[in-house]
Amino acid sequence: MRKRDFLATEDLGPDGFQRILELAARVKRGEVKGGLEGKILAAAFMDPSLRTRSSFEAAMFLHGGHMIVLEPGRGSWTWETEPGVVMEGTAVEHLIETSRVLARYADAIGVRVFPRGKEWVKERQDRVIRDFAAYSDKPVINLESARRHPCQGLADALTLKEKLGDPKGKKFVLSWAWHPKSLPTAVPASAAIAAAQLGMEVVIARPEGYDLDPDDMATIYQTATANGGRVSLATSMTDAMVGADAVYVKSWGALQFYGRPEEEREYRAGKRNWMMTVDLLKATKAGKGVVMHCLPVRRNVEIEDAVLDGPNSVVVDQAENRLHVQRALMLDLIGRR
Ligand code: CP
Repeated sequence: MRKRDFLATEDLGPDGFQRILELAARVKRGEVKGGLEGKILAAAFMDPSLRTRSSFEAAMFLHGGHMIVLEPGRGSWTWETEPGVVMEGTAVEHLIETSRVLARYADAIGVRVFPRGKEWVKERQDRVIRDFAAYSDKPVINLESARRHPCQGLADALTLKEKLGDPKGKKFVLSWAWHPKSLPTAVPASAAIAAAQLGMEVVIARPEGYDLDPDDMATIYQTATANGGRVSLATSMTDAMVGADAVYVKSWGALQFYGRPEEEREYRAGKRNWMMTVDLLKATKAGKGVVMHCLPVRRNVEIEDAVLDGPNSVVVDQAENRLHVQRALMLDLIGRR
């Protein structure tokens, strides 16, 4: 049977997406036990994590499996990811061997690799995660790459279903927020795609110059249309909030300045008012719109304390749902049937 990678939620198709969300809900209700006995996930963290690492480790343990954690350069060899290079630098091992070898030990390989902030034209190809998938004959799971964070997208979708009932046609606002650093676009793109897969009315609020990658926008539009939803853009956070059922707050860098962080910082200056506040919440549907964030969040920078600690915040539920969707994902990909 052909192996199935999990690199993006849109690759699951409508049936696969709903199948995993339904299994996740059953898993969460305690209706599914075991299923991963003797199964091993090798998870390579080329970048840091709290939620992804601990929730995958817990997911494997809860269903009788095991997770091997690798941190290249810290307890395992440093990895070269460029194809065709003469390896006379500091990297000891190429991802080609890494991927092939891990596939001999494990039933699936997870990889977290953020973009390096140099050249978007190159990094937008998401080549490192794709090369892992190409060289491994076991399923590769994207634990967040340059372009996608699909496990977060699944958790966001499950949270939206739990909080809104049927999310179809409901208003989902993805709002840019100020942040001291220029952050990747993987989470906002994945969140908007997941909301589009649920058939929501997706509004992307961002300052001028903060558009997502055009291919991601095309995917968001196509996915929304295919699922009976809609997409629109806004340049005012205040206007976008009106009647929102869910507000997903997230910062990301301006791609036009990618690789030039000083210029981006200058461009970002003066946009600190893009922060989720209690005042803004009042404009959401009956003041009850749910506030989402993938975490980690910078308090009183992206979202005010009073919002994060108040009744509208579902950020910890999203984090919990990482565990349940990943239990479902692992059962679906490598579980004993
Ligand atoms: N949301 C998320 O992926 O969290 P971590 O970076 O802590 O894994």
